[in-house]
Amino acid sequence: MTDAPAPAARPHETMLIVDFGSQVTQLIARRLREAHVYAEIHPFHRVTPALLEEIRPKGVILSGGPASVLEEGSPRAAPEIFTLGVPVLGICYGQQVMTVQLGGAVEGGHAGEFGRAFVSPTGEHANDPLFEGLFEDGREEVWMSHGDRVTALPPGFEVYGTSPGAPFAIIGDPARRFYGVQFHPEVHHTPRGARLLANFARNIAGFSGDWTMKAYKDEAIARIRAEVGPEGRVICGLSGGVDSSVAAVLIHEAIGDRLTCVFVDTGLMRAGEAEEVVGMFRDHYNIPLIHADESDLFLGALEGISDPEEKRKTIGRLFVEVFEKHAKEAGGAEFLAQGTLYPDVIESVSVTGGPSVTIKSHHNVGGLPEKMGMKLVEPLRELFKDEVRALGRELGLPERFIGRHPFPGPGLAIRCPGEVTREKLEILRRADAVFIDQIRRHGLYDEIWQAFAVLLPVRTVGVMGDGRTYDYACALRAVTSVDGMTADYYPFSHEFLGETATRIVGEVPGINRVTYDITSKPPGTIEWE
Ligand code: XMP
Repeated sequence: MTDAPAPAARPHETMLIVDFGSQVTQLIARRLREAHVYAEIHPFHRVTPALLEEIRPKGVILSGGPASVLEEGSPRAAPEIFTLGVPVLGICYGQQVMTVQLGGAVEGGHAGEFGRAFVSPTGEHANDPLFEGLFEDGREEVWMSHGDRVTALPPGFEVYGTSPGAPFAIIGDPARRFYGVQFHPEVHHTPRGARLLANFARNIAGFSGDWTMKAYKDEAIARIRAEVGPEGRVICGLSGGVDSSVAAVLIHEAIGDRLTCVFVDTGLMRAGEAEEVVGMFRDHYNIPLIHADESDLFLGALEGISDPEEKRKTIGRLFVEVFEKHAKEAGGAEFLAQGTLYPDVIESVSVTGGPSVTIKSHHNVGGLPEKMGMKLVEPLRELFKDEVRALGRELGLPERFIGRHPFPGPGLAIRCPGEVTREKLEILRRADAVFIDQIRRHGLYDEIWQAFAVLLPVRTVGVMGDGRTYDYACALRAVTSVDGMTADYYPFSHEFLGETATRIVGEVPGINRVTYDITSKPPGTIEWE
C-alpha cells in the first residue's frame, strides 16, 4: 500500500484511512472520493500522534486486513485515534481491532462467512443517519469475508444491524460516534456500500464534500511545481494511453515547456495510433515532443522470440534503452514522469511485504530513474482509471482521447502469440481496425473496457468462392471491467459477432476464421500473453 503524499497542510477536510493491509483499502478512498470526501491512506504503524496532529482528520476509517486480532503481535490502531473526539468506522478487521481495543471480545473458530449475506438494521437504530437511504426494503446485500467475529461489545456499544451469520454485523457507540461493520462496504459486491460510507462521512463526521477533481488538479499542479522547482526539467514517455496523456498535460500545465515528451514508436502500435498521438500533442497542445520511430530496432530484436515473458522483457529492455537515448538528447532533465496508477502498484507489490507471484512482467520504465540519476514524478499514483479520466476532462483533453481503451506497453506483440513478424502485425492491425470500427458503429465503444483482436498462430482451412483457403485464425476479445484487475467478457449479440466475423474474413486477407474469447478474468487475463 502506498503512503499518501504529505502536503504541508491539508487543504480539505480529511478522512484518515488506517490501512491494515486489506487488498481493497484503496477502494474505501475511492468510494469516499466519489462522495467528494478527501481521504488519505496511511499504514497502521505510521499513524502516530504527530501524524494525527498534522492531518487533523475529521473522521477515521479502520480498514480490513489479512491478520487475526487473536494472533500474538497482530496490528493495532494507534490508541490516540479513539481520543481524538472524531467519528471512527471500523471495517471487518478494523471492527475487530476497535472491539478488542475498547474492551469487547472477538473469537475465532466459528464457521467464517465468505461471500454474499443480507444485513438488517435493529429496530431502534433503523433511522440512524448512517442508514439514510438504505434498508428501504428491510435489508441490504453485503459482502462478508471473515473468519473471526465480534462476540462481546465494548462498553457504550449497541447492535445496529445483524445478519444470519453475524449477530454483530453493524455495531455503534452513539455517544462517541464509533461504528463497526463486519462486512466490506467498499467493494462492488456490497451494492449500496458506497452510500453507507458516504453517510458515515457526510452525516456522522460532518464532511461538506469539498473535494473535487478540479481541486485535485490544482493541488497536483502545485505539488508538481514544488517537486520540480523553478528550473527543473521533466521528460515524459507518451504511450498514447490515457494515463501518460493525462500526466503529460497535467505536468505541462504545471511547468510549461520545461516538459519534453518522448513517443517511442515500437512498430507494435495499432493502425493509425502513432499519427494520432503525435498529432494531438504537437497540434493541440504544442508540447515539445520527440517522435522516435524505432520499429526496426524492436521488430528486429523480436525475431525468433515466441515466449511471452521473453517478448515482454525484450521490449521492456529496449524501451528503456531507446527512451534513455532520446531523453539524453532532449538534454538535462532531472525528472522522469510516469503515468503510474494505483492498479499498477497493487498488482505488482505485495501489501504484506512478502513476495508476490509475477503473472506478467509489466512493461514500464522502472529502473530507469536510478540508472539515469533521475527523480520520478508520478502525479497519478493514487488515482484509479476512472479518476484519471475525470482529471483528463478537467484538463480539457478531447473526449476521443479520454475515452480510449487502455493499450498495453508491449503493444501488439502480446496480441500475436508466437513469433511476431511484420506480416502478422499487418494482418492483426487490419482485423483489429475492423473490430473496433464495428464496435464504434454499434455504439458500444464506451460500454467496453477494452476490445482487440488477437492473431492466432494457427492456420485453418476454409473455403471462399470456389477456392480452398489456408489462413490464420483470429480471436476477438472484449471485456468489461472497473479497473482491469477483474474482468468479464462482453456479451455481444450473435448478430454482432456474425457480422464482425463476416467483415473480418471478407476484408482482411490472411484471416479465414474468427472466434470470440469468452473467458473472464480470473481465471483468464485480459491480454493473451
Ligand atoms: P492483464 O492481461 O494482466 O491486463 O489482465 C490488465 C490490464 O493491463 C494491461 N497490460 C499492460 N499495460 N504494460 C501496460 O502498460 C504492460 O506490460 C501490460 N500488460 C497488460 C492490459 O491491456 C489490461 O488493460
